[in-house]
Amino acid sequence: MSRPPDVVYQVYPRSFQDADGDGVGDLAGIRSRLDHLVWLGVDALWLSPIYPSPMADFGYDVSDYTDIDPVFGDLAEFDRLVEDAHARGLRLLMDLVPCHTSIEHPWFREHPDWYIWADRPNNWVSAFGGSAWEARDDRYYLHSFYPEQPDLDWRNPELIAAMQDVLRFWLDRGTDGYRIDAIDRLLKDPKLRDDPPASEPYGLPLREDAAKLALTRSRNAPDTGEALAKIREACGDAFLIGEVYLPSARWQPYSDYFDAVFAFELLHTPWDAELVRGAIEATTRQRRAAWVMSNHDFGRLPSRFGPENARAAALILLTLPGTAFIYQGDEIGQGEGPGGDPPYDRAGRDTCRHPMQWDPSPTGGFTGGEPWLPLVDPERRSVEAQRDDPGSMLTFVRRLIALRRELGGDFELLDAADGVVAYRRGEHVVAVNTTSEPRPAPLRGEPRLETVHGVLRDGVLVAHSGAIGKD
Ligand code: GLC
Repeated sequence: MSRPPDVVYQVYPRSFQDADGDGVGDLAGIRSRLDHLVWLGVDALWLSPIYPSPMADFGYDVSDYTDIDPVFGDLAEFDRLVEDAHARGLRLLMDLVPCHTSIEHPWFREHPDWYIWADRPNNWVSAFGGSAWEARDDRYYLHSFYPEQPDLDWRNPELIAAMQDVLRFWLDRGTDGYRIDAIDRLLKDPKLRDDPPASEPYGLPLREDAAKLALTRSRNAPDTGEALAKIREACGDAFLIGEVYLPSARWQPYSDYFDAVFAFELLHTPWDAELVRGAIEATTRQRRAAWVMSNHDFGRLPSRFGPENARAAALILLTLPGTAFIYQGDEIGQGEGPGGDPPYDRAGRDTCRHPMQWDPSPTGGFTGGEPWLPLVDPERRSVEAQRDDPGSMLTFVRRLIALRRELGGDFELLDAADGVVAYRRGEHVVAVNTTSEPRPAPLRGEPRLETVHGVLRDGVLVAHSGAIGKD
């Protein structure tokens, strides 16, 4: 497998940069901002879906896997983006959505047998609540997400071959790998038996109706490895990271075929030293953890962990061993907004998808037109305002990314005072005081953590967040 990227920057294309003034971000816009990524020091970007889509789930409902939605550009523009990214030493990861298409994908009409059908619904529930089955003619099709997203049948060899062609199509165009969407839904029980009632907690947050079920039949079937092998076969040694919504103890077989798996336990951990430490301990016991603490589904750093803890969360994200994924805007501590009115996303995720704040103007430098979602607070927080400020979150994040190169490979969680999470990376010690009270540093002779979260070397702080409580 290829060498994993060090830090991947997640671009949510609708909201990153608009070049043509229609208020929606696009590929030309992304291309014009590549130098920000280089300056920040990341070595790869992941694009949330840019394929043609009716946008019922903003691109996660794909109606053509081998083209670009006109709102984002076209294939020629994509080629230019890849070329410019590579010229700057950036790798580009696409988002592969293998488990379902859009209901408007021609496959749904032309190859209904590539999808999962039942004569009557079982008790499976969709990720967004309610039954995962929708009536169509005299049968029901499965939709693990929105009804506009029918589930594909990965036990059908024709579908597998078609998807392998898709994987090769983008790799041949220069894509360096894939973030693979909702992959624990790839294979389900072939007999479509009911999910039994839950007998223990799932290990990650679920909606109420899903939490009542063991979810052992509606996802993560025992033969999943066979389908994962087909994905790997088409991808050679391209970098593959799986969105596996399972606790880390259940990462196999995904971790056998992919280079990395998102560590969702840490993302979902409340800001409590014991729990943060527990999530890190459990996850680092497994191979192939990649770290993520915010994204387009689950919210931003300041809202997940508290505005006063956004920098400390970034410190943890960027100093654990393994690839780190940083969501656009989190480098400036961008906050969430009200979303659309009426909402675009029925599952309530508009709030963490507001446009990127490049400068303090009302449209944040994001668009020359009317932004599809309003900017949150560009006058308070923007790349331009933070770039040359030594005390800004942006400066801190950039410093951490640079420091990663010096962090040793050995990792060890350290005993620390109540409320402190501390670990060693070679000669460096990372210490985070999760409380608002002073705490002793983890090792004797090192500074008290009265005012800082930081990375220490030989007792000297080499990177720190500034005052605790500063957002
Ligand atoms: C993943 C995506 C999410 C999408 C879902 C269905 O979880 O991150 O945005 O709604 O898959 O494709």
